[in-house]
Amino acid sequence: MKGREVGMSTWVVLSGVVSLFVGLMVGVARADLSFCLGCHQDESLKKQDPRGRSLSLFVSEAGFKSSVHGKLSCSSCHTRIKDDRHAEGGKKAADKSVHCGTCHREAEKEYQQGLHSKLIMKGTERAANCYDCHGKHNIQPSKNPKSMTHVSNIERTCNRCHSDVEFVKEHALGATIPGEAFQKSVHKKTGEVTCTSCHGSHNLRSLIDPKSTIFRSNIPQTCGSCHPDITKQFTESIHGVLAARGRTDSPTCTTCHGIHGIKAKVDPDSPVNERRIALTTCPQCHAAERISREYKITTTPVKSYYDSFHGLSYRGGDTYSANCASCHGVHDIRPSSDPKSMVYKDNLQKTCGNCHPGASENFAKGKMHAVASTAGEDFGEKVVGWVRITYIILIVCVIGGMIFFNFTDWLRKTIDRMH
Ligand code: HEC
Ligand code: HEC
Ligand code: HEC
Ligand code: HEC
Ligand code: HEC
Ligand code: HEC
Ligand code: HEC
Ligand code: HEC
Ligand code: HEC
Ligand code: HEC
Ligand code: HEC
Repeated sequence: MKGREVGMSTWVVLSGVVSLFVGLMVGVARADLSFCLGCHQDESLKKQDPRGRSLSLFVSEAGFKSSVHGKLSCSSCHTRIKDDRHAEGGKKAADKSVHCGTCHREAEKEYQQGLHSKLIMKGTERAANCYDCHGKHNIQPSKNPKSMTHVSNIERTCNRCHSDVEFVKEHALGATIPGEAFQKSVHKKTGEVTCTSCHGSHNLRSLIDPKSTIFRSNIPQTCGSCHPDITKQFTESIHGVLAARGRTDSPTCTTCHGIHGIKAKVDPDSPVNERRIALTTCPQCHAAERISREYKITTTPVKSYYDSFHGLSYRGGDTYSANCASCHGVHDIRPSSDPKSMVYKDNLQKTCGNCHPGASENFAKGKMHAVASTAGEDFGEKVVGWVRITYIILIVCVIGGMIFFNFTDWLRKTIDRMH
């Protein structure tokens, strides 16, 4: 019983001390805010930064008070400035450095693993600091549409550096500016995809860092957060298996679709538009002899396709004709020996049947990529090769004979007329 009474009175004293302390703190804060703003509400207050440019020292009271930090004092961030001695400048100049991590440890930890932070540690000027992305005195939660980190504003926030031509040149960041390409992309039109959807916000890394979301073998997973079905198909395909091993010979999502300027497949400018699939998308690799030799794939899939009835009409502009993807699929391409492949022998009737209704088993037989060659080891190819040669001889004889006949006929008539 006694112990409890003592406890009660301790609580009373303690809470009295705490509320006095809090009251004092609030008082200090209020005083501090109006004290600092007493000078810093002046729009003409400026100083020269070390580069000689004019820096405004104006802080909007209304802006600050409506920010997420509006209840803090100025010196809770500017911990090195407590009075007005800095106002004289010179040696007493203010140390304006702010350490956001004192109150935001988690965010800071993430950020410190990322590239921007590492660059600042190394002394790179203009790498992104907390306040480059969030602002200084007008910080809002990301859900607020006015926030610099709201999904609709992130592009502008990043592009202040990454679309600045001089910045890009200085940092040798490639020929295309990400922000410009992104403007015309299908992702921009959705309004939900932005720079940080692929790059992350704090733990953002360089493309050569194996932990980066944009490191080559991690790209399928990055796209897969929004395109999970396609990514699953791809990672099980022959290309996906090779890509996961980090081989640059294999295509990954961005090899076929591009990076920042990804277009819808129906857009004629898309690199995977059906008019391009058999002209560039697949031939960029499968017309290359090195790849065919190194991976022991049919050496002439592209040439043989161009010579086929499908290839001839496709190149003639017939959109109903078969292109590479019509027979092989797109994201789930497998070797013809794999029973799950669209061109596995037992599946051909169905694959061809998509366009040739009622295709018989026999219809689907025969090599699709046979080329005319008398030197090949394949009997089928040899037959086609010899037929082709016979055709050429016949054509030369028939047309040559006709020309010879017409010439002698003309010669005879001319000689006749002269006499
Ligand atoms: C008497 C007017 C006055 C008061 C009060 C005042 N400042 Fe300043 N402040 C200035 C002037 C003038 C400068 C420019 C000094 C210079 O040229 O280096 C300045 C500069 C600054 C800078 C920028 C330093 C830099 O190098 O860019 C910060 C940050 C700052 N003040 C914060 C505060 C804070 C926080 C308070 C309240 C604790 C405060 N000021 C109170 C006049 C004042
Ligand atoms: C949430 C933290 C935070 C609070 C609170 C805060 N500031 Fe700042 N302030 C910053 C940051 C960050 C910078 C930029 C520091 C740098 O450039 O290294 C800055 C810079 C400044 C500058 C220099 C001019 C500029 O825009 O870079 C002045 C002046 C200044 N603050 C005044 C104030 C005054 C006055 C208050 C109180 C009304 C205040 N600050 C409260 C974070 C804060
Ligand atoms: C003295 C502690 C303190 C410092 C220093 C501080 N903040 Fe904050 N910050 C807070 C508090 C407290 C909140 C939460 C306010 C609320 O929820 O109403 C907050 C909220 C935020 C939010 C919104 C978070 C959310 O979940 O909605 C962002 C973003 C933020 N701060 C960024 C910064 C940045 C950037 C800096 C450095 C320029 C900084 N803060 C410095 C205390 C601080
Ligand atoms: C390259 C830009 C960038 C930098 C640099 C950056 N942030 Fe963020 N931050 C963001 C974005 C974008 C979000 C929005 C949510 C998300 O994507 O996670 C965010 C979210 C936050 C949040 C969560 C609250 C909210 O508004 O959603 C806090 C707190 C925060 N950042 C603090 C910091 C601090 C502290 C630093 C520096 C140590 C920092 N940020 C550096 C871009 C950045
Ligand atoms: C759909 C995903 C996606 C979106 C959205 C996206 N990026 Fe990228 N970004 C990538 C990939 C993947 C790479 C790696 C490119 C490579 O492998 O060469 C990259 C590379 C970069 C690079 C490095 C370029 C270089 O040549 O070193 C920068 C900088 C960059 N992006 C900035 C941005 C900015 C800014 C935005 C917003 C306007 C943005 N990105 C939007 C996926 C994306
Ligand atoms: C204040 C300027 C600034 C802002 C704002 C900024 N960055 Fe950066 N960023 C840099 C600098 C500097 C580098 C380093 C360039 C280099 O490698 O020299 C960089 C590097 C990068 C890289 C890595 C490029 C590579 O080498 O692979 C990516 C990706 C990137 N930033 C994305 C973003 C995104 C996304 C945002 C917005 C959320 C953003 N940045 C905001 C300055 C900035
Ligand atoms: C070998 C080239 C290639 C690779 C690698 C590739 N794609 Fe595709 N993708 C295509 C082609 C071609 C089409 C158009 C297919 C069509 O016309 O139906 C397409 C279509 C798409 C579509 C539109 C689907 C629809 O039906 O509307 C999305 C989304 C897509 N790809 C995402 C991805 C993602 C994510 C990856 C990586 C996991 C990836 N692609 C890898 C070639 C590729
Ligand atoms: C934050 C989610 C998100 C991420 C990450 C993302 N996408 Fe998308 N993507 C979408 C949305 C939403 C659409 C538009 C709706 C649709 O067609 O599915 C789209 C559309 C597409 C299309 C056009 C589909 C068509 O109509 O032909 C392609 C291709 C595509 N994305 C490829 C990629 C690739 C490649 C990556 C990775 C580099 C990627 N996406 C990353 C959300 C995302
Ligand atoms: C970036 C280069 C590249 C692109 C683009 C590409 N491929 Fe491939 N493809 C390869 C490589 C390399 C292999 C061998 C993989 C292995 O053996 O592990 C391969 C394997 C194949 C195979 C299986 C060959 C066999 O004998 O096992 C088929 C079928 C195939 N690709 C069809 C396509 C089609 C259709 C397209 C277009 C939609 C395409 N490829 C786009 C590089 C590419
Ligand atoms: C009309 C259907 C059809 C079209 C169109 C087609 N292929 Fe094929 N492709 C096949 C069949 C069936 C095979 C299995 C072997 C054979 O019959 O020659 C095959 C085999 C291959 C192979 C050898 C690997 C293997 O799995 O045996 C590659 C590589 C290949 N095709 C790439 C392409 C490329 C690239 C294109 C477009 C330029 C293309 N194909 C167009 C049906 C087609
Ligand atoms: C995307 C649709 C499509 C697919 C899939 C397809 N074809 Fe065709 N095929 C056509 C069209 C269209 C023509 C007519 C082309 C022309 O103008 O000569 C054609 C023509 C042919 C011809 C020439 C004789 C005729 O009937 O006109 C043969 C033989 C043929 N295809 C066999 C196949 C075989 C075998 C397969 C499966 C390995 C196949 N096709 C898959 C669309 C397709």
